[in-house]
Amino acid sequence: MNPKASLAVLAGAAAIWCASGLLSFSDELHSSPERPGNSGDDPIRKPKDISGRSIKCPRVRAVSAGWDGEEGTTGWLFRNDPWMAYQRGREEFIREFSVADGAFGEAGKMAGQVLEDQTTKMMTRDHVASCTLCHNVPFRDGGAGVTFFKNGGTGRNTTHTFGSGLVESLGWQLRLKILEKGDLNRDGWIAKGEADRVRAIVENLPQDAEGEHVSVDFGAFGDLDGNGKPDLNPICLIHYVDKDGKRVSWARNLTDEGVAGYTIEFQIFGWGHRKGAVASTLRAFSANAYDIHTGLQAFDPILSEEPNHDGLAGTSVAGMPQFISGRTRDRGVVKDERGVSKEDPDRDGVCEEITSGDLDLIEWFQMNHPSPAEKLLTPQRRQGRALMTSIGCTSCHLPDWHLEAGDAANADYTKRYLGDRRFFDLAVTANPATGRLEGRVEMRDPRKREAFRIRGVYSDFAHHDVGPAFHQVQFDGSVLKKFRTAPLWGVGSSAPYGHDGASLDLDEVIRRHGGEADASAKAYAALSEADREAMLAFLRGLVLYSCDDLPCDVDGDGSISPNFIVAGQDTGPERLNPEWLFRVPGRIEGMVTNPDGVKVKSFALTNLMEAYGGKLKWLRDDDGDGFPDARFEAVRK
Ligand code: HEC
Ligand code: HEC
Repeated sequence: MNPKASLAVLAGAAAIWCASGLLSFSDELHSSPERPGNSGDDPIRKPKDISGRSIKCPRVRAVSAGWDGEEGTTGWLFRNDPWMAYQRGREEFIREFSVADGAFGEAGKMAGQVLEDQTTKMMTRDHVASCTLCHNVPFRDGGAGVTFFKNGGTGRNTTHTFGSGLVESLGWQLRLKILEKGDLNRDGWIAKGEADRVRAIVENLPQDAEGEHVSVDFGAFGDLDGNGKPDLNPICLIHYVDKDGKRVSWARNLTDEGVAGYTIEFQIFGWGHRKGAVASTLRAFSANAYDIHTGLQAFDPILSEEPNHDGLAGTSVAGMPQFISGRTRDRGVVKDERGVSKEDPDRDGVCEEITSGDLDLIEWFQMNHPSPAEKLLTPQRRQGRALMTSIGCTSCHLPDWHLEAGDAANADYTKRYLGDRRFFDLAVTANPATGRLEGRVEMRDPRKREAFRIRGVYSDFAHHDVGPAFHQVQFDGSVLKKFRTAPLWGVGSSAPYGHDGASLDLDEVIRRHGGEADASAKAYAALSEADREAMLAFLRGLVLYSCDDLPCDVDGDGSISPNFIVAGQDTGPERLNPEWLFRVPGRIEGMVTNPDGVKVKSFALTNLMEAYGGKLKWLRDDDGDGFPDARFEAVRK
């Protein structure tokens, strides 16, 4: 009997509790997307990928713990092996989940958020097996991508998630800066009458900083138009509260019984919705996307518990406060004796499809994901950039934001900024001699929570009505008129454009602007052809790039080596392969003979288990059931 089969017998009881054990024990049933092998392995037992770019790790559910957690838990990885945590999080983003992992389960059903009629569902579900199938350009990174049926029949286009960790932290900062203006007595919420006529005006940069200064007006705190809701910009999702600041979950208006005021969530992600239809944090966004798109439900106390009943859930290991609006469907109310949640909300027989630890990792990947880059600033592009300001585009597409340094202990809660929580920054610049984009890894200490200047994001993160050509008629007939100013970083690589992807090129989407952007759109149309070309050249130069292929100084020696040596092997031109920065660097196989009899360089790893920490206590899964063995040790004994 092979060791897997004997364990399957031992774990027979486990299979009764939760079918995931049963499915994963059998190689026949496991339609695994993994290619852990190299040229020396039997390609049937161990599929290979000589390019080294497929998923390598067998799936094992990660275990969440704080920064002082035990070996192999997520906090331990963040502290001791941040690149491995990043790469494992990336694998969760690009992995095509199989039925054995619990993918799908309610296919064909409509699910999730409802629209304004309170009945029509916002989208279908269970349509793809991986984040990457939508976030596909560039492939293997947090790319932009497809348009699919969502909100309305004209659809929603997939945004890229480059730089999304900076955007997430900025979202929290904007929430605090708005509360600073409206919560005059600092009790954590805004009472009716407390600041009715005050406007929530936020500056993008500190007063003395260089750069283009813009004040963003996020609206008034009171209900001056008498529709029962605060007149804040719709990017602020309202949570109504009672006289003690506790959330009144069913309330929809300031006039509802028991409502004394409200607090806000800053919905920084997505194209724009009228109510809390997309999540405000990367963790909640991921949990929701896994559920809706791939039929994988997360069991995550961090997202699902609301200790003070004030709209805030827990804080993730990576340091992001969560909102209760992101709570997951699997609440873990019923657990088996191994501690595995038995709820299985989609009834496909696989339990705890996504763990808290898995969310830690996919959050870590997206939070640290490099930002978009900018091509060479030629005289033409420089002129185009100047026109962006002079014809008023940057009044909405404002270029830079200052991320304040973290200040968790400030006596004034509205100053408790998060700062920069990333462990590295990838500075990408165009080499003036060759025009080629080159990267430089700059390590950062995530626990220092330093300030950071977010450059060239080109958004005020407010919703605007940019005219009827953008209005979206939703499935239920309600009309969405306001959208988040689309951040323009990466826009040169993310066609088609607009929330619906209906504009196939940049010129078209700019001409489509009207409404609040009418004057600047008209000014654009009236420019000389050369000036318009200059603006388009500027925008085309705001690009995404493939992190795997970007020539990059990863070891900080000031140059990009043509023969970057890792673990004794020549990996070729230096580039950002996270595996080479692991605590135990991945050792590539090197030159092998391919089926054509030709010598090629194999990037498959010969030390996969060691590099990816497959023997660490909380990652080790000898029985291959997809759960680390340590979770069940006590039960097996
Ligand atoms: C079926 C296609 C599809 C899949 C699969 C998908 N996404 Fe998305 N994603 C979208 C679309 C469309 C948007 C824009 C949503 C909107 O505003 O309506 C988006 C937006 C996002 C954003 C917000 C980015 C921003 O700056 O606004 C994040 C973060 C994100 N997705 C993460 C994920 C993760 C993580 C997964 C996998 C667990 C995933 N997505 C799977 C289509 C998809
Ligand atoms: C009043 C605010 C406002 C002004 C002024 C404005 N825009 Fe926009 N812009 C938006 C909004 C909102 C969207 C998103 C529309 C949507 O979601 O469909 C957008 C979308 C875009 C897009 C598409 C981005 C994408 O990823 O799909 C481009 C390009 C763009 N704007 C360029 C410009 C240029 C160039 C100007 C100046 C001529 C300009 N905008 C002026 C608010 C504005």
